[in-house]
Amino acid sequence: MSKHVVAQADEIAPGRNKLVTVKGREIGVFNVNGEFFAFANKCPHEGAALCMGRVVNLVESDEPGRYRVSRHGEMLRCPWHGWEFDLRTGQSWCDPEHTWVKSYNVTVEPGAEIVQGPYVAETFPVQVEGEYLVVEL
Ligand code: FES
Repeated sequence: MSKHVVAQADEIAPGRNKLVTVKGREIGVFNVNGEFFAFANKCPHEGAALCMGRVVNLVESDEPGRYRVSRHGEMLRCPWHGWEFDLRTGQSWCDPEHTWVKSYNVTVEPGAEIVQGPYVAETFPVQVEGEYLVVEL
């Protein structure tokens, strides 16, 4: 498994996302209420660019005319046929037993830990500030 720096943590505000390419794969990195999640930009239904879809709330109903809205900004709706996926797990809301979108682990790491390597050469003082989003493939 390899790690790839894809963005600075403060670059993606809550409710927003960024499309990145890692090893030829398009991946959407989402900030869900301060937590980061990453998914393949390919809907498991018929292959749409899933990460171009709208981030929506979960809407549930037990009977006509009554509904509940919850989990604000935690669902991703595919732009082609409207299937919805849980941004926290990748699980399909239309076919939860069989359909998941490919997800990737995202960590937030301090810049100083990312730039360290195994080799030693002549060094100069360098300061890395902020935190970075790292996707594991
Ligand atoms: S391609 Fe995404 S719901 Fe059909």
